[in-house]
Amino acid sequence: MTDFSIAWLDLREPADLKARDKTLATRALQWLQKNFPNQGHMIVDLGSGTGSSLRALAGLGAADIVWRLVDNNGDLLDEALRRHRKDWIIEDYEADLNVVNELPLGGAQLITASALLDLASREFVDELKNRITRQRSALYAVLNYDGTTEWAPAHPGDEKVLAAFNLDQARDKGFGPALGPQATDYLTKNFQAENYEIFTAGSSWCLTGKDHLLVSELIHGIANAVKEHIDSAELDTWKQFRLTHVQQGSCRIGHLDFLALPAKR
Ligand SMILES: C[S@@+](CC[C@H](N)C(=O)[O-])C[C@H]1O[C@@H](n2cnc3c(N)ncnc32)[C@H](O)[C@@H]1O
Repeated sequence: MTDFSIAWLDLREPADLKARDKTLATRALQWLQKNFPNQGHMIVDLGSGTGSSLRALAGLGAADIVWRLVDNNGDLLDEALRRHRKDWIIEDYEADLNVVNELPLGGAQLITASALLDLASREFVDELKNRITRQRSALYAVLNYDGTTEWAPAHPGDEKVLAAFNLDQARDKGFGPALGPQATDYLTKNFQAENYEIFTAGSSWCLTGKDHLLVSELIHGIANAVKEHIDSAELDTWKQFRLTHVQQGSCRIGHLDFLALPAKR
């Protein structure tokens, strides 16, 4: 599931919005207000897509913020501008996040990333952490997959499919071997070592029949991701069972939100 089309991002956004931990998001905004009371606020959103973090934080009262959106997909950035340029000051940067030294983080008090850092590698997170901690900005990185998936009703193939899916999560997603389910732990250890205060919270997708379009896409995406590791007839049986139950069944996909705030020196 490394499809970053507008259609896919739109399909997942309601589930992301519902799942995102509101206490952590509010804490990030309050930190901004409290620590930079009489100056402009700037947030850099890495891998911004069409601006889902802007929308999520605006819904929690964020205002008067300059948003710097960074993505390597110009179509997504254009869509973000189309949706928000009337109401927000947006600086759009079409750039490859891998060139960490050139990321436009200067002047930003808060760096955000949503549904991104589980795709990233240790090396990328190390370099990003160095830049963020050097300027004592905060990092708010949400919706990091945690390796858990629970289906109802259960199917005998669930465990095997999940194990194979989690293996795939560690595949290179454009940044080198991906952190996948290790992302939040890795962030925690690294920012703690830099004297940051860390907050984490669950942000699982809890999907039911109302989300059947998203669940169907997920099932196809998972089956595609694991097809080299599981016998095709076995996988097809699992997939058909899952697709038959999208309307009546449910599914919980585990995510974690992460916030790192620089401790006062
Ligand atoms: C899973 S999507 C999340 C998008 C958005 N943050 C959201 O929550 O809707 C990952 C985003 O990261 C961007 N991305 C992936 N690899 C990138 C790279 N190497 N450089 C810049 N952007 C990248 C994709 O284009 C996509 O917009």
